[in-house]
Amino acid sequence: IELEIFQTASDAAHRVAELALEQVAARPASVLGLATGSTPIAIYQDIVRQVRAGRVVWDQVTTFNLDEYVGLCASDPHSFTYYMQQHLFGPLGMRKQKWFMPPHCGPDLAQIAPRYDQTIADHGGIDWQLLGIGRNGHIGFNEPGTPFDSLTHVATLSESTRQANAAWFDGHLDDVPQQAVTMGLATIMAAGTIVLAAFGESKAWALEKLLKEPPTPAVPASVLTQHPHVLVIADQAAASRIN
Ligand code: F6R
Repeated sequence: IELEIFQTASDAAHRVAELALEQVAARPASVLGLATGSTPIAIYQDIVRQVRAGRVVWDQVTTFNLDEYVGLCASDPHSFTYYMQQHLFGPLGMRKQKWFMPPHCGPDLAQIAPRYDQTIADHGGIDWQLLGIGRNGHIGFNEPGTPFDSLTHVATLSESTRQANAAWFDGHLDDVPQQAVTMGLATIMAAGTIVLAAFGESKAWALEKLLKEPPTPAVPASVLTQHPHVLVIADQAAASRIN
């Protein structure tokens, strides 16, 4: 794992955007894996600004998001689909055929979920995957204890994750869904290059575990130590427990 530390979250976000743009410049038909949450907001803003300025052509890019809440359909403003439309797909004018979210509405989700891995494979696999990290070390919604060989599946969110995400639901913990469909750890590990962004002091513990300790399902992100091309982009606050 390579690590780059920046003074501020905004510098770090700028660097991640730069990496995404370099990927698309090098391969215009890239397949990107994308994340939601607070971390990517500044990254997506920067990408949108630079694509609009003509820095790269985005028309051929295909994207696959990591996860989506179960039961929130696309028009729900709390859904990750809505988030992506607001922060990236809309501003970049991406056509509906070019972006994918895990199946998350309707019956038999447990059975249908692994088809997402097949859809990704049908598009040639993910070239470049963006990840955030949970304060408990989750990636996607793979909470502690998730097997390293997991594919896309229905996951039950931990209490700490629901608490962290309650901020998006006006602080109402009861409104945060209990379940999400998430790429599994093996799905994530199949990506060619992985960039993990960690901003803020609340990520310091998870980053320390990831970078300093042997891999264990207790810290899902630690599976990344077994991947050949992982870059961690951190701000100083997130990196405060390393060294
Ligand atoms: C979001 C996702 C999650 C987040 C993580 C950090 O699609 O997969 O793993 O990346 O929970 O969230 P923030 O960025 O809000 O701290």
